[in-house]
Amino acid sequence: MANLRIPRAWDRIPESQVTPEERYLNRRDALKQLGVAGVGLAGLIAGTNNPLAARAPQLGPYGHVPAQWAEKWSGLFPAARNEKYRVVRPVTQERLFAGYNNFYEFSLKKDKVKDLVSDCRVHPWEVEIKGEVEKRGRYDLDDLIRMGELEDRIYRHRCVEAWSAVVPWTGYPLSQLIKALNPSPKARFVRFVSVYRPTQMPGQLDRSYPWPYYEALTMDEAMNELTLLTFGLYGHPLNKQNGAPIRIVLPWKYGFKGIKSIVKIEFKKKQPRTFWDKFPREYGFYGNINPNFDHPRWSQASEIFLNTRERVSTQIYNGYGEFVSQMYDEDDRKYFY
Ligand code: MTE
Repeated sequence: MANLRIPRAWDRIPESQVTPEERYLNRRDALKQLGVAGVGLAGLIAGTNNPLAARAPQLGPYGHVPAQWAEKWSGLFPAARNEKYRVVRPVTQERLFAGYNNFYEFSLKKDKVKDLVSDCRVHPWEVEIKGEVEKRGRYDLDDLIRMGELEDRIYRHRCVEAWSAVVPWTGYPLSQLIKALNPSPKARFVRFVSVYRPTQMPGQLDRSYPWPYYEALTMDEAMNELTLLTFGLYGHPLNKQNGAPIRIVLPWKYGFKGIKSIVKIEFKKKQPRTFWDKFPREYGFYGNINPNFDHPRWSQASEIFLNTRERVSTQIYNGYGEFVSQMYDEDDRKYFY
């Protein structure tokens, strides 16, 4: 992120291409009535015999949904939406969101990531559970996804680079997994590690970064109701460029905390280091969103909304203060970088 600038990729996107939340929701209802589940979406894209195939471009996905997960999880997608987390702004079109990614394992260029992911294999997939926890071991992702109750949540997404989106994610609260794993009282932090696969992820050949990507949360943050262990978006399994097959989503934090393609979850006594430790003033341990504390190289007072390229005011904790402000001291800078 250190050398990225405010994006311009949406310069010529007319208002008419914006998908308002209502239309997205109606589309889901229509699909449900047709009996088309999430995997149906993937099927619609691939299946030339399918009478609905002609509609595929409107239905998405616009990325690379791993076919094996789409098939295995056909009964799980789309999940029921949790109305508690609705957002007033319109949902960002999947075409935009899936074409504009920070995923340094592939490229530092956001519009290139989607073109580099196709050879990356994300099935089969295991997640190792380690550290101060009773149920250590290696979990097959197909078992892991069934350890909580999947739901669809529409969240704001705010990158530290001052662009934002609104995205419908599918996952379950990380707290459900943590409870099932039974951490010891000594566990005060949770550490996450992304996959390391330099032959399939060309960005990992750049040795100036300490691969693999790793991040961490306090136990309180990990247990917070907003923290979503995420397996899908836009009603189908995650696109590869969005962190398939499993990632974290934390809507009150800058996007860099939302680690993608997780292979390890570790329960720790002490605060772990993070991938971005090299730049502690820029991308710190907490990364909570605060319009009053500027990034050393740019203002965080406002953000560019991907849908319209409109500049809108940034809100503290991205508008999620009622869920998270009790965990922090708003005047203490350490919580905001
Ligand atoms: N996770 C990994 N493994 N590698 C990354 O480069 N980038 C982060 C975060 N998680 C990143 C990552 C950043 S900076 C952001 S803004 C979000 O992923 C972007 O997620 P998106 O591409 O789905 O919008």
